[in-house]
Amino acid sequence: MRKAGPILVTGGAGFIGSHLVDGLLAKGYAVRVLDNLSTGKWSNLPAGRDRLELIEGDIADVDVVESSMQGCSAVAHLAAVASVQASVEDPVSTHRSNFIGTLNICEAMRRAGIKRVLYASSAAVYGPNGEGQAIDEDTPKAPMTPYAVDKLAGEQYLDFYRHQHDLEPAIFRFFNIFGPRQDPSSPYSGVISIFTTYARDAKPITLFGDGEQTRDFVYVGDLIDLLIQALEMPRVEAGAVNVGLSRSTSLNQLLETIGSLVGGLPPISNAAARAGDIRHSRANNSRLLARYRMAEPTSLRDGLARLLNG
Ligand code: NAD
Ligand code: UD1
Repeated sequence: MRKAGPILVTGGAGFIGSHLVDGLLAKGYAVRVLDNLSTGKWSNLPAGRDRLELIEGDIADVDVVESSMQGCSAVAHLAAVASVQASVEDPVSTHRSNFIGTLNICEAMRRAGIKRVLYASSAAVYGPNGEGQAIDEDTPKAPMTPYAVDKLAGEQYLDFYRHQHDLEPAIFRFFNIFGPRQDPSSPYSGVISIFTTYARDAKPITLFGDGEQTRDFVYVGDLIDLLIQALEMPRVEAGAVNVGLSRSTSLNQLLETIGSLVGGLPPISNAAARAGDIRHSRANNSRLLARYRMAEPTSLRDGLARLLNG
């Protein structure tokens, strides 16, 4: 699978993307990053590295996507508005990035003759359907937010390109990924980045809802190994793959663990649950374990400790 051309990582200046770039560089790949720096930062990436090209541009711009793809051997498509809440507030601009951008990637790959693409879909596509049980990939989809609608549509377009144009999409439905470089600066940021930063800085925390909602949190380092396997495997089987650990943690439990690591918690207030928020989300990860090699996953406590000490 490894060819001379670079791997194009869209969204490579962001949280997950920058860890993937590190992983690819460490394995000897050349990498080209396309990012509009809406939430990502070049400072997330190593400076002055051979084999790393940076392009500032928007995946909604066909010409930028097409020129960025020239000479690449594969694509990891991670660029998106990652916040579910941002998509509720502004569906149109989210759609430009998350849907139009994905379609542009598919078309540019077809024209360039590039086959392999990783796609960062989301557990959000299941909506409330899996609540109360571990969600497997065949669970009926019930997207409840513009974010989830666009992610599901992106998956379906990739399926179309697989049938029609022999693209080789490896579609992953990430559950809640956390770790260093997840930006805590917006109210829409990932909950662990906000809670750990605020706990460390003794700033008041807001819990939307009663804190009994649950998530399946995955440490980013455990995800990167899987993504690189998907780039390297000889053949990608059809069908999206959940990336979760089948571990359920409530926000109240999360706060308790963070409190025990930082030696106490700041004041916590409750606000109304967010529109479109999913109550319980936990992966059935049998397909992941059948298709990919997975080392012992990082425990939530160890991942939080690494994040807090990093
Ligand atoms: P992030 O915001 O840190 O990364 C997204 C990156 O994409 C940023 O660098 C941003 O600047 C860039 N970007 C956004 N719109 C763009 C555009 N139109 N053109 C070019 N670049 C653009 O978020 P993340 O958590 O690293 O998410 C990466 C991917 O994984 C996203 O597709 C997200 O939907 C998906 N995902 C994340 C999680 C999670 O828990 N973090 C879970 C499920 C899926
Ligand atoms: C997250 C990801 C999304 C991904 C989905 C997959 C981010 C920003 N979002 O969405 O890309 O597709 O997982 O499962 O990475 N909360 C608080 N207080 C806060 C912030 C959040 O109580 O200050 C609550 C939210 O209301 C929600 C929970 O924490 O109930 C998780 O929120 P968030 O981290 O934004 O993640 P998801 O919405 O699950």
